[in-house]
Amino acid sequence: MAKTKTAFFCQNCGAQYAKWVGQCTSCKQWNTVVEEIVQKEEKRNWKTETNPVKKAARPLKISEITNDKEIRLNSFDQEFNRVLGGGIVPGSLILLGGEPGIGKSTLLLQIALKLQHKVLYVSGEESQKQIKMRADRINPKSENCFILTETKTQHIFQQIAQLEPDLLIIDSIQTLHTDYIESAAGSISQIRECTAELIKFAKESNTPVILVGHITKDGTIAGPKILEHMVDTVLQFEGDRNYVYRILRSLKNRFGSTAELGIYEMQGTGLREVHNPSEVLISKNDEDLSGTAIAATVEGMRPLLIEIQALVSTAVYGTPQRSATGFNAKRLNMLLAVLEKRAGFKLAAKDVFLNITGGISVDDPAIDLAVVAAILSSNSDISIEKGLCFAAEVGLAGEVRPVQRVDQRILEAEKLGFSTIYVSKNNKIGLKNTAIEIKLVSKVEDVVSGLFG
Ligand code: TYD
Ligand code: MG
Repeated sequence: MAKTKTAFFCQNCGAQYAKWVGQCTSCKQWNTVVEEIVQKEEKRNWKTETNPVKKAARPLKISEITNDKEIRLNSFDQEFNRVLGGGIVPGSLILLGGEPGIGKSTLLLQIALKLQHKVLYVSGEESQKQIKMRADRINPKSENCFILTETKTQHIFQQIAQLEPDLLIIDSIQTLHTDYIESAAGSISQIRECTAELIKFAKESNTPVILVGHITKDGTIAGPKILEHMVDTVLQFEGDRNYVYRILRSLKNRFGSTAELGIYEMQGTGLREVHNPSEVLISKNDEDLSGTAIAATVEGMRPLLIEIQALVSTAVYGTPQRSATGFNAKRLNMLLAVLEKRAGFKLAAKDVFLNITGGISVDDPAIDLAVVAAILSSNSDISIEKGLCFAAEVGLAGEVRPVQRVDQRILEAEKLGFSTIYVSKNNKIGLKNTAIEIKLVSKVEDVVSGLFG
């Protein structure tokens, strides 16, 4: 009989203690330390019995290491491939995080149904029937996708040994438990142990594994930070649940850039890949409406044209209201102060509401000028001419500052048929002979007089 060993873990950050403490010394949270049973003695990995003891590795010169062109698995989902850096790397572990109901299971099921290889989709959250109902809506014909409802890793590995899938999907890591640890599923030591078993499986069999991870209230992936260190790639699926657009970002990627971004639209039949996001984010409105301006922004590596809406109205109460959706409220206040000082607009007695359409949020400072233009347009009730867009940051002195990747922004605006783009005079523009007119400005005042003067 093996000795039962216990340890105390902080459920918030994963710190380990030998005895109970009221406050975790590493994350300073109160009452998060819980005793968990860890039975180290009996621990075996997923295939100990069949695995001969491997020879210890010896160091190799970097020139000796052969670099066979790795063959990545095509997920048949261009957005997913793009975010991963060109497909799924064999033997890699991918963690997909996101709020409940955002569409993680839908995305992975969809990939499982599209893939031309054998996929095992293990769900600890939904029954086979429920998954079938969902699959029917997405793509009812698939001969390669196997569904298993199981939460014990040892049973999962038994099925894997029989089926030999080319891709394993686990929905979700928080529902798994292993025999070698006593504590409840979802606890820190279970998550850590199950992930370690899956990593071993992935690396030894060269099968890629995709894990779904729940996220906590503050938006980090539940379980210790260590989970993010253990896996090769961390993806985050985000978006506003009241809107249809979803963004897939990579927060960590050992095999590609983290600047890539995938965009999806949630439909009745699953998630649709959005290849040309600018077109969907800009409303096609023939009327001239005041208070809207188009900004050429860059999300990750992708240029995106977004629509900014502002509403300026007389303040009813003493203190004017300022509210921004998808934009930093502090930055909005700063821009309003700049306008007050530099453009002579008396905004102190006005309520200002700002909204970025499509439910996306942007922190690119290059949308400043469009925000300013939208506010001024609403304030004066003069619409901004169609075909105009903006790509510049606004500084505290009212100066229009250069932004990065300006050429990419200009090209995207040109592609979408815009006639004029406002950029900073200090931006180095490498483009020649563009069909779009590039207006170089240095001060907010110049823009104001150009638009409304
Ligand atoms: P789900 O994938 O279950 O989310 P998660 O696994 O991240 O918790 O997504 C559930 C939401 O997606 C649900 O609110 C309904 C919506 N949905 C659609 O709009 N269309 C569809 O075809 C599917 C399958 C789901
Ligand atoms: Mg789910």
